[in-house]
Amino acid sequence: MEKEPMQLSGYPIKFKVNLKSMKTRTLIWAWPTRVFHWMLAIGFAFAYILGDFDDYRQFHFAFGAMVGVLALMRIIYGFIGPGYSRFSNFPVGLKNQIAFAKSVFSKQTDYIGHNPVASLVLLGIMITGVFTAISGYLQYLNESQGEILFVGGYFVKEAHEIFANVFLGLVIFHLAGVLVDLFFHGKAGAFFSIFNGFKSVEAKPASIGTFLQFFGVIWIFAAIFIFYLAFNLSPLEKNDQNRDDEVKSEQNDDHDD
Ligand code: HEM
Ligand code: HEM
Repeated sequence: MEKEPMQLSGYPIKFKVNLKSMKTRTLIWAWPTRVFHWMLAIGFAFAYILGDFDDYRQFHFAFGAMVGVLALMRIIYGFIGPGYSRFSNFPVGLKNQIAFAKSVFSKQTDYIGHNPVASLVLLGIMITGVFTAISGYLQYLNESQGEILFVGGYFVKEAHEIFANVFLGLVIFHLAGVLVDLFFHGKAGAFFSIFNGFKSVEAKPASIGTFLQFFGVIWIFAAIFIFYLAFNLSPLEKNDQNRDDEVKSEQNDDHDD
């Protein structure tokens, strides 16, 4: 007799790949997930790259703060959101991890939402996103107002750098996972699902009601608003190394005259 698919809170998490399922298209990621995803990806890329450029600091603050708010609201969405976006439907337990490790390269079974390892990595991205932004803001306060509270400037600077690099590591792992999934489980269409929301699976759709539509709009507006606020933070002095370089180049210019 065929075994019932594994279920979490009424949502099946796995399915057997077959022709019938491949002909069905089911909404797995409602629009807030997809808009959040691409704003987060763009925000992280800009925040990370601009972290080292003094001339683009306001953009660094803006993209970084946007990432923080996007991630924080994704965590809230994880408790109130629909089907596969809800944390209670993330198959993170040890049993699921072992089952996944055994079947990762098998094309016979697939996951409807995030697979067990992806669930861990994505949770990590959401949490690290919040901590990176908070530590960045603390570093900003330290650099603009001197040492604050009991947190030493050195500690905060190190923390911000470490969080940012852990974040980068998780993103690289995520992208590697997306590629493995594309090559070994491509038939479910997980790759395209983050663009169009649909996977080729037979499952309960993750449609959202008025409240979550409203939450989605607030989510996006909050991210844009914090971008604006952080962009308008008072600029920091340029750091000593760069200032020294500028003074030297100004002196050289004077010599040339
Ligand atoms: C800085 C870059 C990126 C970050 C921070 C990031 C982060 C995330 C997060 C947090 C989720 C979970 C969405 C949710 O549950 O609400 C996710 C899912 C996903 N991402 Fe990314 N992502 C990035 C880049 C990309 C790129 C370039 C692709 C390739 C097209 C991609 C493909 C996907 C896919 C296919 C899923 C759904 C996976 C599944 O069905 O389990 N991501 N990503
Ligand atoms: C999740 C988003 C963020 C990422 C990925 C990120 C990443 C980085 C990186 C890679 C650096 C360079 C680290 C180094 O080489 O020392 C940096 C520096 C810095 N970040 Fe962020 N950051 C984020 C958010 C923020 C936020 C929200 C703020 C403040 C509003 C902020 C403020 C700073 C400051 C003040 C520096 C030091 C600049 C300097 O002194 O040259 N960051 N960040």
